[in-house]
Amino acid sequence: MTSTDPRRAFFERLAEEWDAQQPPDREERLRHLLAPHRESLQGARSVLEVGTGTGALIPLLREAAPAARVVSVDLAHGMLRRARVRCPDTWLVQADVHALPFPAGAFDRAVCHNAFPHFRDPGAALAELARTLRPGGILLILHDLSREEVNAIHRGAGGAIGNDLLPTGAELFRLLLESGFFRLRVEDGPEGYWAAGARAEGSCSSP
Ligand SMILES: C[S@@+](CC[C@H](N)C(=O)[O-])C[C@H]1O[C@@H](n2cnc3c(N)ncnc32)[C@H](O)[C@@H]1O
Repeated sequence: MTSTDPRRAFFERLAEEWDAQQPPDREERLRHLLAPHRESLQGARSVLEVGTGTGALIPLLREAAPAARVVSVDLAHGMLRRARVRCPDTWLVQADVHALPFPAGAFDRAVCHNAFPHFRDPGAALAELARTLRPGGILLILHDLSREEVNAIHRGAGGAIGNDLLPTGAELFRLLLESGFFRLRVEDGPEGYWAAGARAEGSCSSP
């Protein structure tokens, strides 16, 4: 896959050391993060995860959505190589969220964990996620840190991700509405940052 997005090279370089940089209680934190959304994931038949990295969330998505086919996407091949070791029998796809290689309405749920601020065109990425969800399908954007903490980490890292900042909750709400999502819930507080929205009927944004 070719991509001119400089974030790809950034995350390719980071792939080997990514897991070692994560907190030792990561699995517990991820479980806690998914807990309020378990009901929404429970009955899903298909789940798209975008920005999976080394696939840490995949086993928990499978647990939360036991009947679902889970498809995980990332821009960086090195990240997916690590995810393959973690989850040998998962469908992993190297792709850019702005041009997903899936038909319209292919998924019941889409999950984006710790990846949203890295999408170079957040509105276009949300529109593409809306396209791949069936009407009524639900998008979850999840972070286990506050917006301020996430943005400070990215500013500190600099380089290709130095300006990858989470929008305020109000801005995300507006972006989600404009991209064809409704029944919105957006949390932008000291405990974390997350959003959920359902894809509206007829919001498919294909040209
Ligand atoms: C901060 S890492 C998080 C990885 C994983 N979700 C986690 O929490 O461990 C962000 C991931 O998003 C991926 N990513 C960035 N831009 C992307 C894009 N346009 N399309 C798909 N994935 C992207 C990166 O390659 C990287 O693996």
